Amino acid sequence: MTKTYMVTGGAGFIGSNFVLYMLGKHEDIQIVNVDKLTYAGNLENLKSIEGDSRHVFRQVDICDRRSVGDLFREFDFDCVVNFAAESHVDRSIENPAVFADTNVLGTVALLNAARDAWDDGSGGFGDHVYLQVSTDEVYGSLSLDEPDTFFHETTPLNPHSPYSASKAAADMFVLAYADTYGLPVNITRCSNNYGPYQFPEKLIPLMVKNALAHQSLPVYGDGKNVRDWLYVEDHCKAIDMVLEGAKRGQVYNIGGHNERDNNYIVRKIIEETCAAVGDDAITEALITYVEDRKGHDRRYGIAPDKIKEDLGWYPETTFEVGIVKTIRWYLDNQEWVDHVTSGDYQTYYQRMYGSRAQA
Ligand code: NAD
Ligand code: DAU
Repeated sequence: MTKTYMVTGGAGFIGSNFVLYMLGKHEDIQIVNVDKLTYAGNLENLKSIEGDSRHVFRQVDICDRRSVGDLFREFDFDCVVNFAAESHVDRSIENPAVFADTNVLGTVALLNAARDAWDDGSGGFGDHVYLQVSTDEVYGSLSLDEPDTFFHETTPLNPHSPYSASKAAADMFVLAYADTYGLPVNITRCSNNYGPYQFPEKLIPLMVKNALAHQSLPVYGDGKNVRDWLYVEDHCKAIDMVLEGAKRGQVYNIGGHNERDNNYIVRKIIEETCAAVGDDAITEALITYVEDRKGHDRRYGIAPDKIKEDLGWYPETTFEVGIVKTIRWYLDNQEWVDHVTSGDYQTYYQRMYGSRAQA
């Protein structure tokens, strides 16, 4: 029987990778892609599936309760996968309110609509599932001095940025809907994704873009902050496995013990980009240490034991392989980069970096 997925934020980085992954993997499915198309959403990401009748796009704001309700009346969704969010920490420091709106109230609007549509009249919800795509940032920060400590699903939430606070609040609503109404939910909390179609405001695509243009590579603070890198396709596979096989009500951390500090990442990008294009002007001289991000979390590190034990998931792509593939993708898709940065990107970039003092 055809399974119908509501995928929100399916024109963004991870969401579009997920749509492409699912249509490639499963023959008999229908995906209704619900996206507001903010600066981060781009239908160019989905060009390769143009004309595929299994994919339907609806430009809808998840905060618009009436339109979200209409979608549940139009389609008989088996599941919701909520990627839609404001996702960039620096922007959340500038303008927290929109993060509260989309990430918290948007999630509540989806939960309400799913509960109302799926309730079978006797408090049951059948085989439906609501999956919330969350983040390791809800756990706060780990110490560089204790490299053997990791985030577990039981680690208390301790978010620091307006972005992570909004994601943590959303998680609490998801769990509250499970406890209060019995809604079948899962939450996945993954580490930093990288790969194709990531908007060039995030570390990796920004550094590749700037290196190619011989622009400075702004590293925040001392560059020793650590992130746990996950190739986006491995993340998509994990979500598919949670939808298919997880016990409902469970939270899963998704990461692959790929911890690297920002200095390493930027140097690696310089080395690989320089080699790929044979441009000797791409050197470490481009690195500029700039003023630190406010409240900058020092280290993230995921313990992925539960998803491995329960579902057999593990990341297939090592960082060394994934980063080369990713840089190659940005080199081969410079038109995409130009396209997504043609709007108010320059204004954003000036605002973010124009005022950031050299450290
Ligand atoms: P992104 O910013 O690339 O994409 C977000 C998408 O959501 C865009 O297509 C945007 O148009 C859409 N959107 C924004 N507001 C909306 C609204 N009100 N209604 C409907 N659509 C809206 O984000 P991403 O990096 O792909 O992240 C996807 C999800 O994964 C987010 O929930 C994020 O918190 C989470 N996450 C991301 C990472 C990462 O490394 N990128 C890691 C952990 C968790
Ligand atoms: O951990 C998961 C999170 O990863 C997701 O929940 C977020 O949606 C996603 O944006 C990402 O957050 P980060 O803040 O970790 O990603 P970002 O790419 O913005 O930054 C990665 C690291 O690089 C961080 O330590 C800040 C630093 N940085 C970032 C930029 C953009 C720089 O040093 N210079 C930069 O120009």
